[in-house]
Amino acid sequence: MTAHAAASQPQPATFRAPAEGLTGSVTVPGDKSISHRALMFSALAVGHSTVEGLLEGEDVLATAAALRAMGARIERDDSGVWHIDGVGVGGLLQPETALDMGNSGTSTRLLMGLLASHDLTATFIGDASLSKRPMGRVIDPLSLMGADFTARPGGCLPLTMRGLVPAVPIEYRLPVASAQVKSAVLLAGLNAPGITRVIEPEATRDHSERMLKGFGADLTVEQDASGARIISIRGEAELKPQKIIVPGDPSSAAFPVVAALITPGSDVTVTNVGMNPTRTGLFRMLEAMGADLTYHNEREVGGEPVADIRARASRLTGIDVPPDIAPSMIDEFPIFFVAASMAEGTTRTTGLEELRVKESDRLALMAQGLARTGARVEEQTDGLTITGSGGEPLKGGNQTPVIAANLDHRIAMSFAVAGGASASGVTVDDMRPVATSFPGFEAMLHSLGAES
Ligand code: S3P
Repeated sequence: MTAHAAASQPQPATFRAPAEGLTGSVTVPGDKSISHRALMFSALAVGHSTVEGLLEGEDVLATAAALRAMGARIERDDSGVWHIDGVGVGGLLQPETALDMGNSGTSTRLLMGLLASHDLTATFIGDASLSKRPMGRVIDPLSLMGADFTARPGGCLPLTMRGLVPAVPIEYRLPVASAQVKSAVLLAGLNAPGITRVIEPEATRDHSERMLKGFGADLTVEQDASGARIISIRGEAELKPQKIIVPGDPSSAAFPVVAALITPGSDVTVTNVGMNPTRTGLFRMLEAMGADLTYHNEREVGGEPVADIRARASRLTGIDVPPDIAPSMIDEFPIFFVAASMAEGTTRTTGLEELRVKESDRLALMAQGLARTGARVEEQTDGLTITGSGGEPLKGGNQTPVIAANLDHRIAMSFAVAGGASASGVTVDDMRPVATSFPGFEAMLHSLGAES
């Protein structure tokens, strides 16, 4: 059981419109995707790696605990730097107990890939949210590579797998745009003889490719005539230890940025935000709606573009969001829907079936919650259509609506921001899930002047 699930009582919190705009400068915790990968790749390198800026959220700590249970030494020093002594590719050991993944889909799917080419048996368990999420999307390619799985019907956790050595290198075309599936196959390929190839018709976040190259893997990326990316990795690799610096998570920066845009009089800067183009779809869409966003101090940190983002309160106009931008803002739709509910005119989104299998069914929960908050929302099978208030506070009735976060951190944070745009405020029934990705979220909002 994860720390937040184990904590005895739900932690409700109410968020209200601030008397004045939100102002100030904040940092957000380290990027979740990069943090998971930093620990995993370091655990597979031979020797000592360090990681600065690691996200110390429950999801990443679940990855760390699993890697420790399989023989990697992972420690944090007093200055906050993490130290990892890796065991070498193929060198992870049989875990003695089940691996508890908590709420974390990324830990589960990437580690399943990693273990598919190890000679060991592992059982994965998780919380109620994770136990509903589909694992068939990784079981399918990893079975082709020779791993064996026993899962609950529907391919869900709890799940036990046995890896194969040597695993069979494959060429795999992703049936769903998923960086987790891509990364799972590449990680299995790290310890398979020969070349493992993933073809991705729609580009997804490319942290695995960038970082594996940095660790010395023989990895190439090409494009075919249709524009699909072909990623090839040579197996039986030797990874070299690295000094990694993790930038701030753009998916976390999204919350203070949108809060500033929709709160009159706001002027907020979020420093040190990762600006990898496979992650910045939200900022591009907000700009297309008229958001006043400016980027400062643009630089490169540890192979990733980074900038400080300044967001000032803006009049937003509804747009049609092109479905092909979805992979670059897949985690940002909940907070994007909050922005759309304050815009002038209608915002339409399509092609978002994937949102139904995230930490919760994010289309259903956002539609229900925003309607209760006073927004005009229609739910389709693959998206939401939202007619905004034109900048007026949302009016959800006389009583403060209580929104169920349903073990989904991004739903909880989105409604915390929506509370600041609402005439009646919003109560989120349980803020504990926020600890998976954004420890200190409420303190960050309050430091900008948010009211509760
Ligand atoms: C992630 C990929 C995305 C994203 C998740 C993190 C990753 O999931 O939603 O939060 O680190 O690779 P999918 O691969 O399921 O789209």
